[in-house]
Amino acid sequence: MIFIRARKNSYPVKVVANVRDLPVGAVKIISYPNDEHPCFLLHPSEGTFLAFSRLCTHAACPIFYRPEQHVFACPCHGGVFSAADGSVLDGPPPKPLPRVILELRGEELTATGMFPS
Ligand code: FES
Repeated sequence: MIFIRARKNSYPVKVVANVRDLPVGAVKIISYPNDEHPCFLLHPSEGTFLAFSRLCTHAACPIFYRPEQHVFACPCHGGVFSAADGSVLDGPPPKPLPRVILELRGEELTATGMFPS
């Protein structure tokens, strides 16, 4: 008999910010799940924290946040992503930005995984 064990999510649990350092409107670049993967952490409205990969899903160029439109823009081929949910709004990116799963533990914003993984 062969037993196959489901592989457990191997994402680290990592504190990425203290909410006291992230007022409404703040934008911070964090690394998750490791130092090679930059992500944007946003606090767009009271009590809402969002984090997405900073690497474009087309060819992995670093994207930039445009707060006036609440979008992420990619300088390489014109990709545009929603900063509300990471969905593709324009350009060639084939899929949404991966989202960092966040938990608020006391005053610490803690990353626990990525979606989709
Ligand atoms: S790398 Fe971002 S649109 Fe091509």
